[in-house]
Amino acid sequence: MCGITGYIGEQNAADILVDGLKRLEYRGYDSCGIAVVDSKNALYLRRVSGRVAALETLVAKGPPKGGRTGVGHTRWATHGAPSEDNAHPHTDCSEQVVVVHNGIIENYLALKEKLLAQGHKFKSETDTEVIAHLIEEKLKHLHVQEKAVRSDMLEPVFFEAFRHAVGELKGSFALAVVWARCPGMIMAARMYSPLVIGLGKGEHFIASDVSAFLKHTKRVIFVNDGEMAAVRKDSMDFYTFQGKKTSHEPVTIQWDSTMAEKGGYRHFMLKEIHEQAEAVENTLRGRLLPLDGEVLGRELLMPVEFMRAVETVQFIACGTAYHAGMVGRGLFEHFGINAEADFASEFTDRAKLLDKNTLVVAISQSGETADTIFAVREARAGGAKVLAITNTVGSTLTREADYVLHTHCGPEIGVASTKAFLGQLAAIYLVAGHFAAAKGLLDKTDARAYAEELLRIPRHIEEILAREAEIEKIAAAFASSEHFLFISRRLNFPIALEGALKIKEISYVHAEGYAAGEMKHGPIAIIYKGMPLLAVAPSSSSLDLMAGNVEEAKARGADVVAIVDEDSKKTVKASRYIVLPRTGELFSPLLTVIPLQLFAYYVALAKKCDIDKPRNLAKSVTVR
Ligand code: F6R
Repeated sequence: MCGITGYIGEQNAADILVDGLKRLEYRGYDSCGIAVVDSKNALYLRRVSGRVAALETLVAKGPPKGGRTGVGHTRWATHGAPSEDNAHPHTDCSEQVVVVHNGIIENYLALKEKLLAQGHKFKSETDTEVIAHLIEEKLKHLHVQEKAVRSDMLEPVFFEAFRHAVGELKGSFALAVVWARCPGMIMAARMYSPLVIGLGKGEHFIASDVSAFLKHTKRVIFVNDGEMAAVRKDSMDFYTFQGKKTSHEPVTIQWDSTMAEKGGYRHFMLKEIHEQAEAVENTLRGRLLPLDGEVLGRELLMPVEFMRAVETVQFIACGTAYHAGMVGRGLFEHFGINAEADFASEFTDRAKLLDKNTLVVAISQSGETADTIFAVREARAGGAKVLAITNTVGSTLTREADYVLHTHCGPEIGVASTKAFLGQLAAIYLVAGHFAAAKGLLDKTDARAYAEELLRIPRHIEEILAREAEIEKIAAAFASSEHFLFISRRLNFPIALEGALKIKEISYVHAEGYAAGEMKHGPIAIIYKGMPLLAVAPSSSSLDLMAGNVEEAKARGADVVAIVDEDSKKTVKASRYIVLPRTGELFSPLLTVIPLQLFAYYVALAKKCDIDKPRNLAKSVTVR
């Protein structure tokens, strides 16, 4: 979590840094700040507790117009409460070394104790501040506290001090550091937290994520774990932490900067809900036909013989991505392939039980979720091959996995995941279909029918979105409810969980998703007269059971909204309906989730919640 930015060039650094922070605000938004240095070595530090908009107002009051080098940060608090003192950038005692950091320094207490004993004075409660003092200490050892260092020696001295300091850090970090005496160079380093450098003409950008600088350049270099970069306005060099030179070929990002803007929608979340037909199309494009294992195998460089040999598919992921994994489990099991789904954060002992015939599928929109990445490492250590399904090119997950399938959803900025979920589902349906076909579990005719049904999904999504106003009305009727229940069965049970998660995240109300059949084993006790219950009940082989569960809930006073199709509507008796186009039982999760996303959105809107930046959350969860 946390977003970092850096700029070195000829433009006004403060404006570029603040603009970049606005685009990274999804990563954390409890406090923020920038520091810029001008050519006369004067440092301007501006920090606020709160949003980037407040920082922008402060920066507009001046004066750092002269600064052409600087760093910025937007924070999601880990060590120390959200406050101006704890906001980054952090400085050393001399206020010359300026640090922004994303990640956690695990040995910061030991380092802090040592630095305190050496006389350093700390101004914040953060783990990050130790880095600034540590670099200051290294600079002292290099005898540069006096003004008398030759100007041509400043860069080598800064480089060495930074390198030695980084060598002592344990934990995860993406760092960008400016030394006010040396404004011609920013030092950056990466260990387990994302860091990317944008290449301009006579200027360079540093950020946690390309969206921070996409409007300036699409040519980027993804810094590797254990690597640091010396970034100047017209050159840059890469090194290992041991000081050995490394090299990189820039890559060109396909996303354009307008994709990360709201495009007339009131919130990113609503825009992203509306981009879901396209997200599914983009994820499936060129990968579905013929559904025989070969097409996918070629893209992933995964031999079809391996697909045939896989005995168990193990999904690991967090939050919404975990719900996609649960749908994946049901889908693989439908085809007769053993499958499991676990929270990445709970995937510990099971990693020891994997073997070379297990395929671990790690799902992550950001590709940076620490729990997922650590679980992947455990899985690989256990001997399993890992397929990553992610939306983020160049992310950490893509480097850790054996095979990578990108969902081509475009940037997802709203903290509540919507279109990325649809992309993940589409990718899972694609993988499951190819595996089933490769294993001879789907014959040619059924494979064709499966692919065709999947290709119809984007049109169905558009039909549902066209009924947005109806869903808004239903949501408005429940806007003051403080409790919500979501129930369903089998492949749609994860959708009930997802519906509850969406409403919790953005409306801050209590919501629970339950397997409909489980209700009578305890949770039915919480139903009271008028309690909203959303029943996800499309046509399926378990519809009669589902209809019975709805009756049980109604008998205890639940006010039921049923998510149905024209056929299942005849069986399920509810006070309100959201009617979806009919699709095969296997494919309904790709549709049933859409009204639940819209429902959550409109409840949150009615409650006047901050939909794109819900309290306490951040989009990219890079701590465990
Ligand atoms: C929910 C949400 C989170 C993420 C989870 C995993 O709307 O966004 O639950 O799904 O933190 O994130 P990724 O997919 O980036 O690994």
